[in-house]
Amino acid sequence: VLIRRATTADAAALARFAERTFVETYSAQNTPDDMVAYVSATFGEAHQRAELEDAARVTLLGEMDGTLVAYAQIRPGAPPACVHATCALELARFYVDGAWHGRGVAHALMDAVHDAARARGGDVLWLRVWERNARAIAFYRRCGFVDAGMQTFRLGRDVQRDRVMRRAVRRSR
Ligand SMILES: CC(C)(COP(=O)(O)OP(=O)(O)OC[C@H]1O[C@@H](n2cnc3c(N)ncnc32)[C@H](O)[C@@H]1OP(=O)(O)O)[C@@H](O)C(=O)NCCC(=O)NCCS
Repeated sequence: VLIRRATTADAAALARFAERTFVETYSAQNTPDDMVAYVSATFGEAHQRAELEDAARVTLLGEMDGTLVAYAQIRPGAPPACVHATCALELARFYVDGAWHGRGVAHALMDAVHDAARARGGDVLWLRVWERNARAIAFYRRCGFVDAGMQTFRLGRDVQRDRVMRRAVRRSR
């Protein structure tokens, strides 16, 4: 997998991919109304372009033969109280196309996320993951993330529980 930094030229393709992978991940366990409410407020090309123009964020794309198969995004911002850090970076998005699950793409992308976090001067990476997303939790544990606490997350009208997980950013590989 080739991993590169996304640019605004990727906005349309990334918007389609982000929406599709979100829907594929969560549709089976959520109502259509809740999914539509969240997706319409979060994805779309204009929204994606604005995020790509935000210099504080880093969005990484994973491509196989020029086809988008994964993406991740890190952003600064105050972490929840359960995450102690000097310079915390949130892993705000981390999605791999279903056809590439279990094939190493996610690990390659996580290595690139870690490198980007270090380049940004981060000392802690943290994330939120739905408590019912067992595969992602297992993957994050394998990548060295540990539980830090819980937070609520609103999907449409449904208030859900997310785990907050964190890991240190190593200074060198
Ligand atoms: C989360 C994700 C990036 C992980 O990538 P992946 O290639 O699937 O990860 P891997 O196959 O290397 O690891 C998944 C782990 O979950 C385990 N697993 C698989 N299915 C599982 C399930 N239903 N329940 C619990 N664990 C499961 C695997 O055995 C593996 O653990 P191991 O390495 O200890 O054996 C990928 O599955 C994905 O993109 N999912 C959809 C999007 C998503 O949920 N993103 C996270 C948002 S917070």
